[in-house]
Amino acid sequence: MKQTKLVRITDIKRDAALLEEAGQIIRDGGLVVFPTETVYGIGANGLDADACRSIYTAKGRPSDNPLILTVPGRDAVRQAAASVSPTAELLMKTFWPGPLTIIFPRQPQVPDAATGGLDTVALRCPDHAVCRAFLKAAGVPVAGPSANLSTRPSPTTAEEVMHDMDGRVDMVIDGGPCKIGVESTIVECNDHGGVTILRPGGVTAEMLHTVVPYVRMDTHLVTGQGTPKAPGMKYRHYAPAAPMIVAVGSVEAVMAELKQLYEEARRDGKTVGFLVSQEVGACLPDAHRYVWGHHGDAEALARQLYTGLLSFDTDKVDLILAEGIDSEGLGAAVMNRMKKSAGGNVRFV
Ligand code: TXA
Ligand code: MG
Repeated sequence: MKQTKLVRITDIKRDAALLEEAGQIIRDGGLVVFPTETVYGIGANGLDADACRSIYTAKGRPSDNPLILTVPGRDAVRQAAASVSPTAELLMKTFWPGPLTIIFPRQPQVPDAATGGLDTVALRCPDHAVCRAFLKAAGVPVAGPSANLSTRPSPTTAEEVMHDMDGRVDMVIDGGPCKIGVESTIVECNDHGGVTILRPGGVTAEMLHTVVPYVRMDTHLVTGQGTPKAPGMKYRHYAPAAPMIVAVGSVEAVMAELKQLYEEARRDGKTVGFLVSQEVGACLPDAHRYVWGHHGDAEALARQLYTGLLSFDTDKVDLILAEGIDSEGLGAAVMNRMKKSAGGNVRFV
């Protein structure tokens, strides 16, 4: 068991010594949890195979699931990518720093332990000042998957990180709550100027379309068939302890559906937790509830989703009844996560 040092960093200049200490831990092969605009990441030296392997141990993650390498800017890409296509260049110029992960051909110096043996590497440059200062201090690409135990919802506050990672990492940098709340979009570039979305996220298909002529979704995301191109998408993920049912539709339809499901659950003697908007929550029976914002507000739901799910682990409910959102814009990322959290149990009402 490690002694985990929790540090709060708000001012990069004032806290330069702490950032340097964090960078040194990475160079020495240790683990540092860091904030990003999406979710917290658990960092290790991405060029050090043993350090990368220790991430898998800390997370309890299957080792064929490759890690994203996190970099402070475009200049650092060549440390890990063998080449950069014109489309990748354009995407980096437009969306970095930001919630977009791009797949590149891999440099030989990137170990198999980081890429799960793939000949590609996923790179991302977060839009978070503390994070980028930490990455600069580290001086190497930092392998950084979400800082949750495997299968659990990703943490968006340092408190949630400590719940899963206390004793498993050397340092946790508290940079405040994450602005976006769901993980980055992952894209692969093809040879004809188009991109395939392997995981929907904060950079939406609509946003990509403003600079790239062809944007398609990985077939697995659309049909649920075949093998997902992002290996991690095949695993159980973002799962709260209790089973969950999601309803999507108008305020009235969702309310009616959740009320009926609630009554059935109560007849079976189950305790219920609601994860709903203010509008839907207004007329639901008294039960554990987590209200995330206004009906249809994808940004609010993205920001609150994981904290809401984790609150039901603390409250120990038997069933979570949740309100979803239209799969447009950021809603696509939110519904991709909610569907996984609910093991596919989504009802359009
Ligand atoms: O927002 C994010 O991306 C967060 C923050 C912490 O940066 N990170 C994150 O990492 O979500 P993780 O490890 O939880 O998810 C990485 C996903 C996995 O589904 C993995 O299979 C996929 O990226 N991936 C990594 N390298 C890949 C590659 N070379 N080709 C295809 N998919 C890859
Ligand atoms: Mg993850």
